[in-house]
Amino acid sequence: NLIMKSARTVGVLVPDIANPFFSIFIKGIQEVARKNDFVPIIFDANESQQLQSYLEELIQRAADGFIIASATIDRDAVDTILKRNEIPYLLFDQNAVSEGDRVWIDDEEGGRLAAEYLIENNHKKIVIVAPENPTENIIRRISGFKEVFAKAGNPIKDDDIVNSEVTKNGGYHAVSQIIEKDPTAVFTISDEIAIGIYRGLKENGYQIPNDISVMGYDDIDIAEYVTPELSTIHQPAFEMGQVATELLVNRLKNRKLQPQYKKLSLKLMKRRSVKRLE
Ligand code: RIB
Repeated sequence: NLIMKSARTVGVLVPDIANPFFSIFIKGIQEVARKNDFVPIIFDANESQQLQSYLEELIQRAADGFIIASATIDRDAVDTILKRNEIPYLLFDQNAVSEGDRVWIDDEEGGRLAAEYLIENNHKKIVIVAPENPTENIIRRISGFKEVFAKAGNPIKDDDIVNSEVTKNGGYHAVSQIIEKDPTAVFTISDEIAIGIYRGLKENGYQIPNDISVMGYDDIDIAEYVTPELSTIHQPAFEMGQVATELLVNRLKNRKLQPQYKKLSLKLMKRRSVKRLE
């Protein structure tokens, strides 16, 4: 049967497909897209020029809507490319432009949960590992974390932050600076970074959590498979993808809907990489 029903398309732009957080997010998108006869077209773009050219390319190919998690889309691109072409879109996760339909995760709360857990385990000397130019969501994550330590009378100083790309390699290379600061615990803003730190610490003769504790963020699947199992903050990446797609599909069906807002929650995953200090 050669008669084809043409499916509609949704353009998906994420910062890094290789990061399992975004792969799982994309799986969630695919599941809901399939049910609604949509085909996702996926790109990763973390640079503003590249992102804009993908957007334009997809619009020429008649994409029906967009889900954009990359941080590099700015006001200008939203106004000149998306709005002018009257294409529905949903900005998500790293995105600072807060308008329209929104899937919301409380990153400050995530940072607070991580900090409370470390304080409960009596950690006082902390290093945070984060990118040099953090996106809005990561800024909030760090600020929630710092808030808890400040309230506990043990403020975290700028000097307690070590910069890293959000990759395993970034974490691996951050290790020498972490060791110099001699912390009892490290809080990384992503599990990918934490996995790199695992390797670097091991190569330097450190044992997790006996010599140093590690707390991640995201709860990607390998977090449970590394030794020791990584304590982290669970982000519902699959559900985030599902809900983002649901909201976009609703919008495509009815452009006049009020802005839709859906909040999803985070969860502390206590595993074995954080030691209780006496
Ligand atoms: O690991 C990628 C991180 O960047 C995630 O925490 C996600 O929220 C994104 O912003």
